[in-house]
Amino acid sequence: MSGDTINIALVGCGTVGGGVAHVLLAHADRVTQRAGRPLALRRVVVRDHAKLRDPIIPRDIISTDIADAIHDPNVHIVVELVGGLGIAKKVVLDALAAGKHVVTANKSLLADAGAEVFEAARRAERTVCFEAAVAGGVPVIRALGESLAANQVTAIQAILNGTSNFILTAMAERGMSYAAALAEAQRLGYAEADPTLDVDGSDAAHKLAILAQISFGVAARPHEIARQGIDTIDAMDIRFAYELGYTIKLLAEAWTGGHSHSTNGAKLSRGGAANAAHANGGPPTVALHVAPVLLRHTDLLAQVRGAYNAVLVYGDIVGETLYQGPGAGQMPTASSVVADLIDLGVGRAQRTFAAAKLWSHEGRGFTVEPPERVRSRFYLRLQVADRPGVLADITRILADEEISISSLVQHETEEGEPGASATGAVPLVIVTHYASTGKFRKALERINALSTTAAPAVFFSMGD
Ligand SMILES: NC(=O)c1ccc[n+]([C@@H]2O[C@H](COP(=O)([O-])OP(=O)(O)OC[C@H]3O[C@@H](n4cnc5c(N)ncnc54)[C@H](OP(=O)(O)O)[C@@H]3O)[C@@H](O)[C@H]2O)c1
Repeated sequence: MSGDTINIALVGCGTVGGGVAHVLLAHADRVTQRAGRPLALRRVVVRDHAKLRDPIIPRDIISTDIADAIHDPNVHIVVELVGGLGIAKKVVLDALAAGKHVVTANKSLLADAGAEVFEAARRAERTVCFEAAVAGGVPVIRALGESLAANQVTAIQAILNGTSNFILTAMAERGMSYAAALAEAQRLGYAEADPTLDVDGSDAAHKLAILAQISFGVAARPHEIARQGIDTIDAMDIRFAYELGYTIKLLAEAWTGGHSHSTNGAKLSRGGAANAAHANGGPPTVALHVAPVLLRHTDLLAQVRGAYNAVLVYGDIVGETLYQGPGAGQMPTASSVVADLIDLGVGRAQRTFAAAKLWSHEGRGFTVEPPERVRSRFYLRLQVADRPGVLADITRILADEEISISSLVQHETEEGEPGASATGAVPLVIVTHYASTGKFRKALERINALSTTAAPAVFFSMGD
């Protein structure tokens, strides 16, 4: 990077871009001190020139000409904050080709086209920084890539979607229905008008794909990550889980070795299992999924409330570490983007980027565990006819698939209570011992086909 001052072009000045511009301009002295030289906001590119902007941004640096900004020879860093895969990808690739470093908060772009973007960066000998792409203001990318660099991560358990966590918290603490909690999240600005990507687990899967690349070197595409959303969770599941001692959270999880799904396992034995696989000559595996998981009330992640994000990382040397904070929003996300700019100013980011070799052919030997082989305990809720023999049919199917039952509760419901049904069907909750997901799904298919089950079974993984 030439000269003393570093010049920045900001492409996209909406929620996050507006925050980044504000921090750079309102806290210029602080940023200069931390970067060791001035970071000057030289250009701001938007779609609609007429839109009202933060008055702190000089009007004469705002334009709608992306190419002009990217190819400005005085610009050293392009910050892509447009979002999506179309224009954003072109901005990033063109900026790299023009010899600029890139900072982005775009999880979709990295999860879908990480290999292409990082290859382009290496070819151009430039750097891509993306702290804000996962968990907004929570510095988890830096923690994984730098602070925990002495470790092999053995497991990650994370709340990566604030919208879903807000909805689940409202359901658990205020007894709201899913629909009412979603409506409140929309009213308060935590959920988009179309909340699909948040509540069906897609958003969290994008972020998990990025964390899995950094931690395990696997290039899992988001659509290859097993995913279950929160939209099938009923108020009665929250209540039944609570009675059993659990809280339901939408978790993005990655764990190595042993194929089991358990917090203790992650801490105590999964790392060992991965090493054992190594020792036996087999490649180490990592299981990845996004799903609602029943966590003990006392688990750290069970206590993460509202729109917050949290990431638990287990390292083979450090043990368990937790990162928590605002996972989205203008200023938290801007905080991470500006930290990347400062790192580039200092010159740290360039060295870390070159050493990390992300999305390269130099993986760490991990392969992704096929979802059907992943083992877990399961919570299974059925609406069944209240008559003799029904239970026997269900337990026989589970036994056929070698799934043993840990507890079984038939809930008596009164009219008006959650679970009460006009057809006389009653909720039956079964908690299983460990079973492979493949066998569990086979059993589910057969249970759903029984004439005595009134509605498709609802099931979630257990976190222990
Ligand atoms: N919002 C969050 O809390 C958050 C958190 C973490 C990560 N992110 C990521 O940050 C990125 C930006 O999100 P955001 O919420 O800030 O989005 P946003 O508010 O919709 O802002 C998008 C910006 O891009 C500009 N833009 C769109 N199309 C353009 C075009 N063809 N040419 C030039 N400019 C164009 C828009 O211009 P106009 O202003 O003229 O419309 C706007 O300034 C996304 O990748 C998102 O996933 C967001």
